[in-house]
Amino acid sequence: MGEQVNVGIVGCGAISGAYTTTIGRLPGLRLAAVADLDAARAEAVAVANDARALPVAELIADPGVDVVLNLTVPAAHAGVALAAIAAGKDVYGEKPLAATKAEALQVMRAAAAAGVRLGCAPDTVLGTGVQSARRHVDDGLIGAPIAATAIMVTPGHERWHPNPDFYYAPGGGPLLDMGPYYITALIHLLGPVSRVIGAAGHARPERTIASGPRAGTTIPVTVDTHVTGILIHDSGALSTLVMSFDAAATRAAPIEVHGEKASLIVPDPNTFDGDVLIHPIDGTWQALPTLAGYRNASRGYGLADLTTTPPGELPRASAPLALHVLDIMESLLTSTTTAQAIPITTTCARPDPVPLTEPC
Ligand SMILES: NC(=O)c1ccc[n+]([C@@H]2O[C@H](COP(=O)([O-])OP(=O)(O)OC[C@H]3O[C@@H](n4cnc5c(N)ncnc54)[C@H](O)[C@@H]3O)[C@@H](O)[C@H]2O)c1
Repeated sequence: MGEQVNVGIVGCGAISGAYTTTIGRLPGLRLAAVADLDAARAEAVAVANDARALPVAELIADPGVDVVLNLTVPAAHAGVALAAIAAGKDVYGEKPLAATKAEALQVMRAAAAAGVRLGCAPDTVLGTGVQSARRHVDDGLIGAPIAATAIMVTPGHERWHPNPDFYYAPGGGPLLDMGPYYITALIHLLGPVSRVIGAAGHARPERTIASGPRAGTTIPVTVDTHVTGILIHDSGALSTLVMSFDAAATRAAPIEVHGEKASLIVPDPNTFDGDVLIHPIDGTWQALPTLAGYRNASRGYGLADLTTTPPGELPRASAPLALHVLDIMESLLTSTTTAQAIPITTTCARPDPVPLTEPC
């Protein structure tokens, strides 16, 4: 994937291992340094990956770091990104782009003023699953798209995450945590959104951590944990969304897209691959061929995509897309309290599709 780019990771928590593994196998990326507020965490990741552990400010200032990979918790996304941008670094971060739309806009303006590149997860949608589904929709296999459903339910991340506090605080909740995968996929499939309406609730005021050194500790829940909504796309297509930390299980497909000729099942947008299935009006479910996307991809491909995007062009996991997704989520949550449909004031182009690309 082009010239080697030196990556500095800020935030060495649960998801950092997925990125260090990908960086280790992509020839275009090299892990130069890592940092965390918890120096011991940074040290452990540095030792495991033959990288330098630095204090956060030193990593951001380090001339040996070309791009800052921001894997901190959502509340810290904007602060770390702004510091990295001020140091002239490109930034790619975990989702959401920031905890609020206002913060995200501040980060985007700073990146534009500094002339640095800014990208944001999820990159799962660049894998063969969502990309092949998009290709089949674009090729007209289901006819004109009319509607979609996107459904994610789980009893809650406190069952496996040792520090799940952020999932139950502002900036977290099932919509801000899992919504980016589903809404980003829906934008790839059906284009941008012009209006939303939502309703939400929560099952209980606290959660108990089930694993790690804090197992048994109770944490407060200050956000809605069952969020439903309708997204009205510019095209007129209607997507129905259910994101829940309050339900045991579901047999619903992660995403279904319904067209005038057929329905399509899209694999889990929190993974990179999986089968795309089609059901024509007078047919049965059948698997469709894999026609598009990064094969054998993993978290970090969005960063590699950003570092190889020619200057002046938008990477596929772009800031305008992430801002639009954040705007949709924030507006949906506003709608849950006002019971009004909310117009979406941001927009974005559908990202460039990913041709079928063999692993590096
Ligand atoms: N855990 C997952 O499975 C997963 C999957 C996909 C995406 N994500 C996203 O990745 C991000 C991180 O999630 P996680 O599960 O790794 O969280 P985590 O709590 O396990 O790790 C976050 C790390 O960031 C550090 N940190 C926080 N603020 C910081 C700051 N200002 N400067 C430096 N370090 C700071 C913390 O000390 C911690 O080590 C979140 O945005 C989350 O939504 C997580």
